[in-house]
Amino acid sequence: MLKLAITGCTGRMGQRVLKEANRDPNIEVVGALSRPGNLFLGQDVGVFIGQEPLDISITDNPTLAFKNADVVVDCSKPGGLETHLQEALQQNKAFVACMTGLSETHKAFLETASTKIPVLVAPNTSLGNVLLRKMAVLAAEILGPSYDVSIMEMHHRSKVDAPSGTSLSLAHALANLEHLKKSNPPYPAQSPRTEGTIECVSLRGGNVPGEHTVIFAGDKDLLKIEHRVLDPSLFAHGAILAAQWLFGRPPGLYAIDDVVGISS
Ligand SMILES: NC(=O)c1ccc[n+]([C@@H]2O[C@H](COP(=O)([O-])OP(=O)(O)OC[C@H]3O[C@@H](n4cnc5c(N)ncnc54)[C@H](OP(=O)(O)O)[C@@H]3O)[C@@H](O)[C@H]2O)c1
Repeated sequence: MLKLAITGCTGRMGQRVLKEANRDPNIEVVGALSRPGNLFLGQDVGVFIGQEPLDISITDNPTLAFKNADVVVDCSKPGGLETHLQEALQQNKAFVACMTGLSETHKAFLETASTKIPVLVAPNTSLGNVLLRKMAVLAAEILGPSYDVSIMEMHHRSKVDAPSGTSLSLAHALANLEHLKKSNPPYPAQSPRTEGTIECVSLRGGNVPGEHTVIFAGDKDLLKIEHRVLDPSLFAHGAILAAQWLFGRPPGLYAIDDVVGISS
């Protein structure tokens, strides 16, 4: 039985991870952390997610929250990372960082921590997205420079960043290819297109959980490779798979690609 502590547990991602974990017979939720002032502090975690009581209270004390855990799954925001990682280091716990928007300072901190504990950085825990990236790179290699490459994404109306982190990581992987080397973040759309570049286009609207399409447009045909999230609990499921994969690994810096078992 894998014992999990979940931070940012009152947020959308945190709640989804709590729910997925609670319905998985191989997982036990042993800690649920929010921050001081949160409305739900002290509430039973099971009741909080609309299920049977779990006899675990939502706390703002990381020492308490991580005490019985094998793995900490951080579903808070980048602002919470340092405190959570510091405590995981203190208690020698494996750590999965699920938040997006990490700065270079955060990344350096994660890297340093990974010399002492296993750390998996997964701003996108959808395994399908890893496959999308692999397939897109393969398609770009095969199709070559005569095809223009575009990445189109759509997310719900309240998403803050554009292009999405996933679009940027797709573009980054493609820009490693010799014929797409002229591409530079944030990969703006161009009219007319310059050869050797990638463009990223973002759409925002409604309640769309996340869609990414990589388009290869040639003179005589057009290829689209698409990943569409149908249910956002997908990300929680991926976070739990990542935690299961990470437990028992030696200290090191890991990515979601490692969970899928393919190198990027
Ligand atoms: N890995 C993935 O596949 C994936 C999928 C979806 C989202 N995400 C990312 O996961 C993160 C959380 O997303 P969300 O939609 O759940 O956000 P959210 O609903 O705003 O929840 C954020 C949670 O973190 C807490 N929090 C915020 N700032 C904190 C800080 N400085 N210290 C400690 N706790 C803090 C919040 O507490 P309060 O309620 O008290 O503010 C809340 O519990 C975002 O970075 C998001 O982009 C990743």
